[in-house]
This record gives sequence, structure tokens and C-alpha cells, in this order.
Amino acid sequence: MKISVIGAGYVGLTTAGCLAQIGHDVFCSENDKDKLAKLQAGVMPLFEPHLEGIIASAKEAGRLTFGSTDEGIDRGKAIFICVGTPPLGNGDADLSAIEGIARVIAKRASGYRLVIEKSTVPVQTGAQLRKHLGVHSTNGLDCDVACNPEFLREGSGVEDFLHPDRIVVGVDSPRAATLLQEIYQPIIDQTFACPVHSDCPSRNTLRFLVTDTTSSELIKHASNSFLATKISFINMVADLCEAVGADVAKVAEGMGLDPRIGPAFLSPGLGFGGFCLPKDVQAFIRIAEKSGCDFSLLKEVERINQRRIEHFIEIVRRELWVLRGRKIAMLGLAFKPNTDDVRFAPAIAIAKLLLAEGVEVRAYDPEAMEKAKVLLPAITYCDNAYEAAEGADAVLLLTEWEEFRKMDWGRLATLVERPLIIDGRNALPLENVTRNGFEYVGIGGLSAPSRLEPAMIPV
Ligand code: UDX
Repeated sequence: MKISVIGAGYVGLTTAGCLAQIGHDVFCSENDKDKLAKLQAGVMPLFEPHLEGIIASAKEAGRLTFGSTDEGIDRGKAIFICVGTPPLGNGDADLSAIEGIARVIAKRASGYRLVIEKSTVPVQTGAQLRKHLGVHSTNGLDCDVACNPEFLREGSGVEDFLHPDRIVVGVDSPRAATLLQEIYQPIIDQTFACPVHSDCPSRNTLRFLVTDTTSSELIKHASNSFLATKISFINMVADLCEAVGADVAKVAEGMGLDPRIGPAFLSPGLGFGGFCLPKDVQAFIRIAEKSGCDFSLLKEVERINQRRIEHFIEIVRRELWVLRGRKIAMLGLAFKPNTDDVRFAPAIAIAKLLLAEGVEVRAYDPEAMEKAKVLLPAITYCDNAYEAAEGADAVLLLTEWEEFRKMDWGRLATLVERPLIIDGRNALPLENVTRNGFEYVGIGGLSAPSRLEPAMIPV
């Protein structure tokens, strides 16, 4: 099918690349001229595993083209709106980009279009979009409006799109439901060349859930807010474990064995970051407020999350006593591994607080340093973790990249001023770390002394 994707951010680019991968003729448009020129020249504006490859092969096969919004509106029978809905000062989602696209579609498009909101939007946006398209239509537009929320996670976006747990579509007509089923049929049947797995995991549980637009809009916000609630819950349990001397890893394991709870999203740490969970929780609180519902539970989820950074700084202060003049190594800047995204990343907030305390900060991240430099010019960026650790009074683990788990702890121990690891993600191999002379301090009562006398650490 001829499909247009408006907006080339994480969701837009992944959607465009994957829809082309499963065989559709896709046109992806971007208003940012530099970004568009980069994409037309084959330069990726973001890091996302597997995405560069599928975009390059789809372009080569003529199934993916990048261009302007006008061209996109002219070409696509189905138009996926994937523009940004960043938070406004009061926490509401900024819908001006969506409103702008709606006007262009209404003025430009003639004949049938299926207009699909894929950006994360507050409930009833679809109803507004439908009305707006009708009001501003001047060129014989006949359209359906649908909602198709995206559940992909950064760092595994391509895999999540091609192997989803569910595909949710909110429609106002059977025609729209049929078209969306046709668009996703290769994913429902899992009949496509998978760029991620040589042997794809079977997904016989994949549900194609058809509902009304309003319910589908709520599914997105409610899902993200529930994930955030799970994270804040386990972070509170972690604080309690610290206070009573329990092991949060064991507590989470015990909880997660109950299929009603499940093990996912029970990893305590620095709190949830990124461009989705924080803003979606805020937007959901606002949506509820406007509908006369006081979602106090989510307000507490947000408060607990905001306190994670201070709590972590208190741990660092407790371990180092005086922060001024200390040298600290930060391993990880991205809000989570396998992405270069530093938006609302806990590491950025932690670095700013440490700098304000007069700490010299040296950092390394496998992918996110270029984007971090924009937000954090005052720290030293290093070529690898070992360089970052040189002369450090403490090494902080802030993003659980796989490469940090596999570090040469013996080598690292010879480079630091003090062999102290403070693990904000409980991600490092405690045994291995302490065997090489490091004190280990984790989240939720997870800590262990060095197994080597300082004198035993080879210099
Ligand atoms: C999230 C949702 O998972 C995804 O379905 C939605 O489409 C977009 O928002 P993403 O923002 O990419 O995806 O990140 P996610 O993997 O959900 O992690 C969010 C944050 O929570 C990260 O900062 C992560 O470090 C943190 N997290 C996650 C925890 O602290 N503990 C956990 O157990 C899981």
C-alpha cells in the first residue's frame, strides 16, 4: 500500500523503516530541512539498532523515499502522523504540530485518506482531528481518522515494531479497521524478512486489538503510566530494603514469580527517564484533572521518581564524605542502554548536581556523548571507561550498557584513586567487582566490601 509517515523522529523513522521492510511503498517526510537532507543522503539522525540497515535497503529497493510534507500528503493513501507532542509548561501535550499537519491535509488532499495518529496524544485528540479535518477541508477530502498507538522502546524499536505483543487500532469505521489490518497483515502473520533474528521467536500471542479511538488513546497513556508506577513501586521497596537490610533483587524476584505481577519493570535504580514515561505520566495526570479525576497515585509515582536523583547523590555523599574537589567517573549518559537519547536521562541530572558541588566529572558512553555535550559542556568526555576512571575517587554506573558488565575490573582497579563502585542500576557483576578489590555499593541494600586488601591491589 502507498503509505506516508509524517515526522522522522524515533517513532516516525522506525515506523517508516519497518513498514517498508514488510513490503509497503513508504514516503517519510520531515520538516527539519537539515534532518531531511541527512536522511536523503543516507545519514541517520539517531542511533537505533538495526534501523540504519533496514532504511538503507528499503531506499535501495525503492520502497522508501524521504521528502516534504506536501509530497507525503499527496502520495499516501494512509497517512501516519508521527510528529512530536512535547510537554508544555503545565504538563499538557503540545498538539500544535498535529494541528498544523491536519490543516495541510485538509487543504491539500482530495479523495480518500486514512489519517492515523501514531504520536502519543491525550484522549479525544482523534475527535478533535476528525472535526478539524472536516472544518478545514477545501479540496474534496474524504477521510477516516484512526489511532494506532506505538509501544516501541528505544534501543529495541525495530524488534518491538516487527514483533509486538499487541497492535492496537482505534477506528471510527469498518473501512479504517480493514485498511489497518491490511497494513499490519505481514506482522500479524509474521511473514516478512526479519532484520533482527535469523530465527524469529514465535509470537502466537500477538493480538490485533480493534477498539474505538478514545479507548485506544487511553491504552497508550495508561500503559506507560502503569509501567512508571511499577518502577516507582520497586524503587520505594529498594529504599525500604536499604533501611531494613533486605536484598531488593531477591524481593523483586519473589514478586515477579507471580504471573499477576511479572518480572518485567521491577529493576530499581535511578528512576525512569527518556522522552516517554516522564512526559506521559505528566500528561495523563493533566488529562485526568481536566476530566475531574484526581490521579493522586500518579502524582506520587512522579514524586518518587524525582527523588531518585537526590537519593543517589546522598549515597555518593555518604560514601565520599566531602564531594568538593573529588574526581568522579560516570559510566553511561543515555537514559538507558542501546540508545543515544539523553532526554530526561538521570545521568545528566546527576552530573549537573555533582558539578554544582565542585566535583570534577569524567564520563564515557558508547553512543550518547555527542548529544550529552549539548546539555553538559562542563564535563570531560573520554574515549572509553578506563580513561574516564583514571584517578577517580569513585566510579558511578548510570546506564547499564552491556560493555560495562564485561569490563576488566583488575585493570580498572589499577587506574582509580579509590576502588569504589556505586552502581545506580544494580547491573554490575558484584562478585567479579569485589574480587578485584572494589568496594561495591548498589541500590536497595545491595553492597559488598572489597575482597582484596588495598595493599593487594596491583598498581
Ligand atoms: C517506553 C515504553 O516502554 C514503550 O512501550 C513506549 O512506547 C515508550 O516509552 P522507552 O522510553 O524507550 O519506552 O524506555 P523503557 O525501556 O520503557 O525505559 C524507561 C525508563 O525506565 C528508562 O529510564 C529505564 O532505565 C527505566 N526502567 C525501566 C527502570 O528504571 N526500571 C525498569 O525495570 C525498567
